[in-house]
Amino acid sequence: MSNDIQNLKTEISNEITAANDLKTLDDVRVTVLGKKGRITALMKTLGKMDAEERKTKGQALNVLKNEIADLIKTQESALKKQEMDTRLASETLDISLSPRQQDKGHIHPISQTIEELTAIFADMGFSVAEGPDIEDDFYNFTALNFPPGHPAREMQDTFFLPDDEEAQGEHIKKLLRTHTSSVQIRHMQDNQPPHKIICFGRTYRSDYDMTHTPMFHQMEGLMIDKTTHMGHLKGCLQDFVRAFFELDDLTVQFRPSFFPFVEPGAEMDIACSRKTGGLKIGANKDGSVDSWMEILGCGMVHPNVLKSCGLDPEEYQGFAFGMGIERMAMLKYGIPDLRTFYESDVRWLEHYGFDPLDRPNNATGVKQKRA
Ligand code: DAH
Repeated sequence: MSNDIQNLKTEISNEITAANDLKTLDDVRVTVLGKKGRITALMKTLGKMDAEERKTKGQALNVLKNEIADLIKTQESALKKQEMDTRLASETLDISLSPRQQDKGHIHPISQTIEELTAIFADMGFSVAEGPDIEDDFYNFTALNFPPGHPAREMQDTFFLPDDEEAQGEHIKKLLRTHTSSVQIRHMQDNQPPHKIICFGRTYRSDYDMTHTPMFHQMEGLMIDKTTHMGHLKGCLQDFVRAFFELDDLTVQFRPSFFPFVEPGAEMDIACSRKTGGLKIGANKDGSVDSWMEILGCGMVHPNVLKSCGLDPEEYQGFAFGMGIERMAMLKYGIPDLRTFYESDVRWLEHYGFDPLDRPNNATGVKQKRA
């Protein structure tokens, strides 16, 4: 290797080892190997040399170029390692600490309530079924024993969709379902008994005030087999409200009521008191009850409903129940106005929503929540 190349190599090597951060090292790389770099410039002079000189000089320059590139690489890795060592020495991460409190994002009370309801009924052996929001007249009304023209249809004023080619005729008018009871029919038609399901979903009615919105959520329950009777209905629903409101002795009453798809039909009330100004759920200490609050509708499934699902009412029987999810959430968590559920107000959600890492559940209870 000629002396000038040897000198150049020493010079550049010194520059490389003197570079003590990645930026300086990159600057050296550009001044040496870049388009206008020193080695690149020397390479360009090869063209003007005679063949013999070009061969020897060319080889020597290539060797130099590779050696320099290797030196840069080695220095680069050394600098990167040094950087990482400094970071590791200065940054600490204690993975044994508990997770930090989240300050963004809350679980909506509807989602929270659905999970609580699911957990309670899953413990009793119910599984979750689903059905569509856009129903037809048959599933929403006719199969549930509201024949066309039945006055009870008027109680559930809903949104009908325009008739389309396929949906002509009285029984296949499309509408937004007014209740989740339609899922009972779909489930019974598609599955073999015994049936033991709950179902959640959006339901629609043309109403709007403090306790009604055009869209709200319901939960439906259905249990059918050969021996199910009204005692099961009462026991199941009493256990449910006691678990949901976390009051082991919550008093309930069943009041006769009319729903076309059950016979007998009832509404279940829970004991409460309004004497203190606010609402207190539960009976008084001495067992007396000041007031009752309606919670849900229920009953023994009507023989006509069983027949419309191909079941013989002489062989099968069972019970059904339905409730508004917002209503359950409002009562349990003290939310006064139904309309606020859908205003997407972040302040509301921060107040009434649930911390994803600290949600009440059936094991820990709610009482720790709500400062
Ligand atoms: N579908 C009823 C409503 O929306 C609620 C209901 C009442 C459901 C009685 C039931 C039941 O399953 O048995 O008002």
